Formats: sequence, C-alpha cells, structure tokens
Amino acid sequence: MNNLVIAVDGPAGAGKSTIAKIVAEKLNINYIDTGAMYRAITYKCLENKVDINNEEEVKKIAKNTNIDFKDNNIYLDGKIINEEIRTMKVSNNVSNVAKIKEVRYLMVDVQREIGKRNSVILDGRDIGSYVFPNAHYKFFLIATPQERGSRRHRELIEKGYEVTIDEIINDIIKRDEIDSNREFAPLVKATDAIEIDTTGKSINEVVELVVSKINI
Ligand code: DC
Repeated sequence: MNNLVIAVDGPAGAGKSTIAKIVAEKLNINYIDTGAMYRAITYKCLENKVDINNEEEVKKIAKNTNIDFKDNNIYLDGKIINEEIRTMKVSNNVSNVAKIKEVRYLMVDVQREIGKRNSVILDGRDIGSYVFPNAHYKFFLIATPQERGSRRHRELIEKGYEVTIDEIINDIIKRDEIDSNREFAPLVKATDAIEIDTTGKSINEVVELVVSKINI
C-alpha cells in the first residue's frame, strides 16, 4: 500500500466526518464518507419503495447502483444526493441495509479501489478493522450519547428538521446497537487504533490531536 490511508471509525455522531473532512484538507488528500454510501443505497431503496427487510431486493438495488465521490459531493447513479441521504427516514433505516453482507462487499470493493489509487482518509465503522487492516493510521472517535445526540440535533435543526433531542439519542443508540452486533464487519475498535474521546473537546482540538499523530 503506497498511498497514505487513514481510518477514522467510531459510533454515530462522534465527530468522525467533521474531523476527517478538515484533516483531509490540511493534508491535501481525499476524503471518503463511507456512511454516505450505505445511506445512498438506503435512499434508493426507499425511493423505489423497496422493503428494507427484503434482503434479496436490497441486494438487487445495491448491485445495480453506481456510487461516486467528486469534489466533496456524493453521486448516486450520476445525481448529487448530499442532502437527500441525511433525512431521519434514511437514518432510521440505514443500519438494516448496512448489515447485509453482500451490500457491504460491494461498498468495500469501491472503498478499497479508491484507497489503491489515492491517498485518502475514510470515516466509517469498519475501516480500520476490516476494510483497511493495514491502514497507516487508525483513529477511533467516541463521545457520550448525550453529546453525540446534541451534535446531531443541532445539525438537523439548522437544516430545518423538527426533531427532539430524545428522538435523536434513541436513534443513535439503536443504530450503534445494530452496527455493533451485526455478524459481518461490525463497529469495533481495531486493536491498533488510537482512541480519542471527543466529549467536551472543540473541533479544532480534535483535529490538532489527530494531525499531531500523523507523520508525512
Ligand atoms: O456515519 P453515518 O451515520 O452516516 O453512517 C450511516 C450508517 O452506515 C451507520 O448506521 C452504520 C453504517 N456504516 C457502516 O456500517 N459501515 C461503515 N463503514 C460506515 C457506515
């Protein structure tokens, strides 16, 4: 592996994407939000009225889908869907799509291909433990459920959604549970990952902490 690969994993709302995006800019490398890929498949299933619990149908959709990243945009079959994948409806269903092994195989292939061709920082749940076990750097971000809930709540309120903080906390706890207990490539801290508790820390503090560990 010649390109620099940095893995950022952790539960929902721990600050992974915010941090990874800024670190990518600072290091001038690519950023891949792997959660957005599972969200894109979920969005497409919902749009096509596919029952998320019907694994065969979800697999069929995943096989016939093209997901691409360009200039910080995510493309689903050629169309930018940055906002569409952030709704509560997608959030509430995505863990059940992400637990399907064959869906994961397809997404992981894309992620590994990107890592083969570019220096990249990826955020997700299984990047350091499964997708890139030989990543040069691995970080595992955590924060209390209360803090994670209030961050997500703030983001959604800013976007105009009417949700309560309790709804959000329940959603992230439920998702973490499904993500951590699925059979294949669950959310887990790689043994060689650096754990950072982001509770009470500013974005800048966490970015500095991450960058200080990276030698390039
Ligand atoms: O990071 P996020 O909230 O956008 O992720 C959405 C869902 O996708 C999350 O509930 C778990 C799943 N996911 C995963 O299983 N593996 C990844 N590498 C990234 C996300």
